[in-house]
Amino acid sequence: MKLSKLLLGLLLGCAALAINAQIVIKFSHVVAADTPKGKASDFFAKRAAELTKGKAKVEVYANSALYKDKEEMEALQIGSVQMLAPSLAKFGPLGVKEFEAFDFPFMFDDTAELHKITQGPVGAAMLAKLEPKGIKGLAYWDNGFKSFSANTPLKSPADYKGKKFRIQSSKVLEEEIRSVGGIPQVMAFSEVYQALQTGVVDGTENPISNFYTQKMHEVQKHLSITNHGYLGYAVIVNKKFWDGLPADVRGQLEQAMKESTVYANKIAQEENDHSLDGVKKSGKTTVYVPTKDERFALKKAMAPVHIKMTDRVGKETLAEFYKATGFDPSKL
Ligand code: LMR
Repeated sequence: MKLSKLLLGLLLGCAALAINAQIVIKFSHVVAADTPKGKASDFFAKRAAELTKGKAKVEVYANSALYKDKEEMEALQIGSVQMLAPSLAKFGPLGVKEFEAFDFPFMFDDTAELHKITQGPVGAAMLAKLEPKGIKGLAYWDNGFKSFSANTPLKSPADYKGKKFRIQSSKVLEEEIRSVGGIPQVMAFSEVYQALQTGVVDGTENPISNFYTQKMHEVQKHLSITNHGYLGYAVIVNKKFWDGLPADVRGQLEQAMKESTVYANKIAQEENDHSLDGVKKSGKTTVYVPTKDERFALKKAMAPVHIKMTDRVGKETLAEFYKATGFDPSKL
């Protein structure tokens, strides 16, 4: 009798604990807190706490504090971390090669063209392709367009020849660098500053918000505003974890994500503009805006990447992208 009472008490105690237990969501990312992605993830954490009335707590780990590029995807799949916002380039190495279409040079002229994909059925279908990998895609968040930097000026395609450029792990980006005679070097984001400082690589590409907040301007003398390719994110969660959430909490988190996506896409351009001001004010890097002809020469030099990488990404996916953007590599 005594023992069964004890057991009952224990059971009730456990049930109460389970009911009151706070749901902790670890959200890991590799960039600084004061970037579009950093600010949007902090915004999500705040709204998640408010909307769930404290039932869910989102812990944001910025600047690769928990995991570096490659490790974070594995950590999500095994459930050591619940939420990430990797750049879209990170899904090719996972085996969902359609995402590499986002890496094609000069694919998008502006975010309006990009949003036709990320905010439409093509983008949604691409996120659905992550589900067999145990990943659920919740949203696309913008960063912006990449520019090239080095210690020597980058005006014509010939200026890239023989230089080592750090890129993310992407077969398309490898071809992009090779198309102008450069040498691609795949490296984790957290290692780029040191690699530039020590001369392991000569240059790199990234939106200015990443360039500035990682202090790359301290170790790169020239920044050329090429806007040659897009870098943005997919916010993803461990599917089993997400599907196992109480329905009311999941709904509140979905609402928090909706609001965070509006916020992320609103601040992305502002953050990049602000960072460009910072680079200019630092006086450490010469900022160069290529002329229309110089930019066209780069676009033409990189056009063969589209032809070469068509089969890798898939004709159907590329056709959808070209329909949205009007880009036609054969016309260059
Ligand atoms: C990079 O590795 O250059 C980017 O993916 C970093 C980021 O997440 O913005």
